[in-house]
Amino acid sequence: MIKSGKDIIFASKLIREGKLVAFPTETVYGLGANGLDAKAVVGIFEAKQRPSFDPLILHIASADTLDTVFKKPINPLIYKLADKYWPGPLTIVSVKNKQIPDIVTAGLPTVAVRMPNHPMALKLIRQAGVPVAAPSANLFGRLSPTKAAHVRDQLRTIDYLLEGGQTNIGIESTIVAVADNRIEILRPGAITVSQLKIDFPDVEVVSSSTEKHIQAPGQLKSHYSPRKPFYLFDQLPDNLPDYAALLLFKPYEIPATAKSKVFLLSTNGDLLEGASKVFSVLHDLEADDSVEQIYAVKVNEEGVGAAIMDRLRKAAYRFTGATDEGEIEV
Ligand code: TXA
Ligand code: MG
Repeated sequence: MIKSGKDIIFASKLIREGKLVAFPTETVYGLGANGLDAKAVVGIFEAKQRPSFDPLILHIASADTLDTVFKKPINPLIYKLADKYWPGPLTIVSVKNKQIPDIVTAGLPTVAVRMPNHPMALKLIRQAGVPVAAPSANLFGRLSPTKAAHVRDQLRTIDYLLEGGQTNIGIESTIVAVADNRIEILRPGAITVSQLKIDFPDVEVVSSSTEKHIQAPGQLKSHYSPRKPFYLFDQLPDNLPDYAALLLFKPYEIPATAKSKVFLLSTNGDLLEGASKVFSVLHDLEADDSVEQIYAVKVNEEGVGAAIMDRLRKAAYRFTGATDEGEIEV
């Protein structure tokens, strides 16, 4: 059993000593280490069994420290994005400061940075006094953790788990690459393309999935998978197997003969509510012995729907072997 509790001072001391601490953010739990300590960061890759080609996000507690992580001069657009969305679920990728170890960025010249909107995370980073490198606190390829118990189930070799209840956004941050007067969305999240376009009307905002242009080596086709078959449908098939669970993001007419367990993530089709529950419900279904397969009905890819579909497609990929977003080379 790993050591856990709410002792932020103790946790920050561990970070400074090069140890591994899982902590809550507003999106998902992260597995943190001192982002300036290459040896400590190696520990993250080992604990997660994560391939070293997949770069990490650095977490900071104030935009005032941006010049310690990015190369100067920093693009003014980065400060504008930070001002608008931080603390919050937006990760910004730009050219790295040379003090950032190569292991953090998987050898890339750029680094991903965000300021999480969670009081425990912010206090932990402030007390540690260093940028905290943290991927989601799950084993590589498995479901992202939205509760302390999810971390405990998957990661057995970490030094401390900071307990902070259920995360409220429930899916990982939006990742954007910033260059010149351009924002490119590398991973969709709760901050949407349309929101960025509204808030930054004079900036070119592009989505990399529509451009089929991949910058992030971590954008794997298969990811976040439950350990039982998971299938995505435009419409539910007529013959549902008895031991299937149905994941619905809005009310849906179920065939009267169906014996499936139904999980309605939002009674009014609110996709932010659906996103906040999707990993949590998938964790429950993964653990439920009465469920043999999971079926989900696709959502419209507008707004947060794009982020939900990104996660669902990756979860289903290993069971269907195909996505309809095109092939992603790694
Ligand atoms: O909400 C979140 O972002 C959570 C919490 C813990 O902050 N973190 C998270 O980290 O989702 P992770 O490691 O599971 O996903 C980070 C992804 C990588 O897989 C990679 O695709 C992308 O960030 N990334 C990191 N550095 C990058 C870079 N220099 N260029 C492009 N993409 C990068
Ligand atoms: Mg992850």
